[in-house]
Amino acid sequence: MYCKEVNLLHDNLSVRDGHLCFAGYDTVELAKKYGTPLMLLDEQRIRNTMRTYKNAMEKYFGKESKPLYASKALSCIAMYQIAKEEGIYTDIVSIGELYTAKRAGFPLENAFFHGNSKTDFDIEYAIENGIGYFVVDTSDELYALDRIAEKKGVVQKILLRITPGIDPHTHSAISTGKVDSKFGTAIETGQALEITASALCMSNLRLEGFHCHIGSQIFEIEPYCDASEIMLGFIDKVKEELGFTPTILNLGGGFGVRYVESDPVISYEENIKRIAEHIDSYCEANQLYKPTILMEPGRSIVADSGMTIYTVGSVKKIPEYKNYVAIDGGMADNPRYALYQSSYTVLCANKMNESPSFNCTIAGRLCESGDLIQENVMIPPVQRGDNIAVLVTGAYNYAMSSNYNRVHRPLVLMLGESERIAIKRESFEDVSRLDEFLD
Ligand code: LLP
Repeated sequence: MYCKEVNLLHDNLSVRDGHLCFAGYDTVELAKKYGTPLMLLDEQRIRNTMRTYKNAMEKYFGKESKPLYASKALSCIAMYQIAKEEGIYTDIVSIGELYTAKRAGFPLENAFFHGNSKTDFDIEYAIENGIGYFVVDTSDELYALDRIAEKKGVVQKILLRITPGIDPHTHSAISTGKVDSKFGTAIETGQALEITASALCMSNLRLEGFHCHIGSQIFEIEPYCDASEIMLGFIDKVKEELGFTPTILNLGGGFGVRYVESDPVISYEENIKRIAEHIDSYCEANQLYKPTILMEPGRSIVADSGMTIYTVGSVKKIPEYKNYVAIDGGMADNPRYALYQSSYTVLCANKMNESPSFNCTIAGRLCESGDLIQENVMIPPVQRGDNIAVLVTGAYNYAMSSNYNRVHRPLVLMLGESERIAIKRESFEDVSRLDEFLD
């Protein structure tokens, strides 16, 4: 039994003897064993979500259709190993991610290289390692890539990243499909058609299709339906004016996840089915050719398969003002509240039977007033030594972590049939590893 005022959000969370359990493991016991901050990953849930995407996309878009795991959400060897085993593709945005995927044995011919400012070195490195596709962002990149591909003696497959001009109403910093976005080439300005014409003239590049990404944390299907209509219309125009028919349309990532109780519950399978139906009927009505559809889920694959457990360092009550509960982590392992005021669900992992009657702000340990994890949360009265759980931290937490104040990045534990370390806790040596003594 546990306090019924508490919402556990996802079915991989439960309570045993007053302790919060995640993927069947007692989080308080894990905190004792591995120390905190501790990031936990639910292997089965990651695999299940990858399968949901893969099966739904193959079923509704067609056999060739595949999800690409957007590994910026959490890039580590274990994640690429799982993506490889589940038979899905990946999207990488740097040669650091590419290198990690390579070390994991991920087949790089199934990797798509994104980014709006790839260097010559990035391009050479990716070609040398047999990257499947470049997703070309600008004409500067296009020319550089053609030149380097020629030097390397390869004909490189590419997609062009196009900006469809959609604003899906998420936080502006994570909305990327608008005309004035720093990413991609806009249809509206005529530049998308121009870059397509240029790409078709390049003898060392093979244009296979187009990509768009409209934003992140999107629950509705309408922005995807709108984006696909615009992209299919663009593809038709390319066919008419340039005589080229692409084989791929990549619709990017972005499905939302439930961070707090007020977020909706959505079914990825149902969303994919409805987008596919929309695309089919739109193509039929307008007699358009339907390319192979790809999607790039990141957050929705790993966010709710992760959580972080901390230890309370201090409880500070300022009468008439507010209460702070300070933890042994903060914006260095989770900068999302500081950056985007993102909502999170916070629980006291070792007091799950107690009523959440204490209003407080969860503060980090970093020397920065804005280092907060969440404000105005209700948890049971806590004291130094209690464990604070922050739910749904699998995506864009560790991936965006830093060593600010020379704190150590947390340990990441993969919970499957057994518990395995996916990323070791940083040591004193690690945080000063690159420093040199001055002579
Ligand atoms: N494809 C492209 C080209 C992207 O830019 C992104 C995310 C994705 C796929 C994956 O989107 P997802 O399925 O994860 O929504 N740091 C921010 C999120 C930035 C997303 C950037 N691009 C956050 O913590 O909310």
